[in-house]
Amino acid sequence: MTQAAAAQHTANRNRTTDYQGFTLRVSDYSKRLLSLDFSADTISRFVDAMAEYPVQALEYKSFLRFRAGQILDDLCGNQLQPLLIETLADRATGALLINPQGLERVEQAEEMVKLTTAVAHLFGRSNLDAMSGQYYARFVVQNVDNSDSYLRQPHRVMELHNDGTYVEQDTDYVMMLKIDEQNMDGGNSLLLHLDDWEHLERFNTDPMAHRVMRWAAPPSKNTRKDVFHPVFDVDNLGRPIMSYIDQFVQPKDFAEGTWLADLSDALEGSTHKLSIPVPVGSFLLMNNHCWLHGRDKFTPHDGLRRELMRQRGYFTHAKVLRNPGQ
Ligand SMILES: [Fe+2]
Repeated sequence: MTQAAAAQHTANRNRTTDYQGFTLRVSDYSKRLLSLDFSADTISRFVDAMAEYPVQALEYKSFLRFRAGQILDDLCGNQLQPLLIETLADRATGALLINPQGLERVEQAEEMVKLTTAVAHLFGRSNLDAMSGQYYARFVVQNVDNSDSYLRQPHRVMELHNDGTYVEQDTDYVMMLKIDEQNMDGGNSLLLHLDDWEHLERFNTDPMAHRVMRWAAPPSKNTRKDVFHPVFDVDNLGRPIMSYIDQFVQPKDFAEGTWLADLSDALEGSTHKLSIPVPVGSFLLMNNHCWLHGRDKFTPHDGLRRELMRQRGYFTHAKVLRNPGQ
C-alpha cells in the first residue's frame, strides 16, 4: 500500500456511517472488507421477535428463513437488505465482518444461527449442507481430530480456497460464524481478494486456467458424484473469478498436477493475504467468486475448543449481483 493509499484507508476507516439499527465502516484489515455492527438494541429486539421461531422451525419450514430476514430488515428501517446486496455485488469490496452487539456467548448459539439465517436470506438462499443435512452446519474443532480433511484439524493451515468446488449447486456466498472459542492461540481467518493477488494475471492467462478438471471430495463430505469445471471463469463483466480448492481437485496428468502445485504455492505465498481474528458471535460474509478464504494454524492446547457455523448458498438477486452498475 502506498503512503497516499494508506492515508486514504485510515480516513475511510475512521468514517462510520449510521443506519437505523446498525453502523458501517471500512474494517481495520482492508478497504475491501466492511465492518457492520448491529446495535445491542437491534439484536435484543430481533431475539424477542424470533422467540416464537426456534431454529428447528427454520430447519423444517424454509420460508421462515426469509421471514427471519424480513424481521431483521424491518428493525433496520429496510436499509439492511439493499446494503447487503450492493456490498456483495461490488467487486471492490464484496465482504463484510458482521458484529452483533450482545451476542457473544456460546449459550446464545441458537440466536446466532437465527441472526446469520436472517442476514443470508436477505440476499440469497443457503444451500443444503451435505455434511449436516441442514441449510447450515455447526462443527467443533478440538485438539485431537481423526477426520479425513483439514476442516477440523487444528495444527495446520487450511489453505486458501473457494467453497462449493465439488458440488453442483451454485455457491455465490460463504458465511462463517464463530460460536465458541476456548484456549485458542492463532487460528485467524485468512482471506485474499483476487484483485489483490499479485499472480492473478500469470495464472488466469495460462491455457491451463480454463481447462476442465475433475473435483471429488472425501467420504465425510457426503457427496458421491464428481464434478467437472475449470479453476478460472469470468463473471458477466468478463472479470476473472475462481472455483478452487487444493484438497479436492484431481489432476489427471503431470501437466495439470504441476500447474496446480505452482498455483497453490503462488496463493499461499501471497503477501496480500488478510489475517482476521473473528470474535465469538461475529461472522464473515463474502462473495465466493472473488474472495478466497482459509484458516491459520493454532497452537496445540489440551482444552482447545472452537465451534463454527457455516452457510453457503446462491444469490437470489442474481441479476443485480452479477451485473453491478447495470
Ligand atoms: Fe471453506
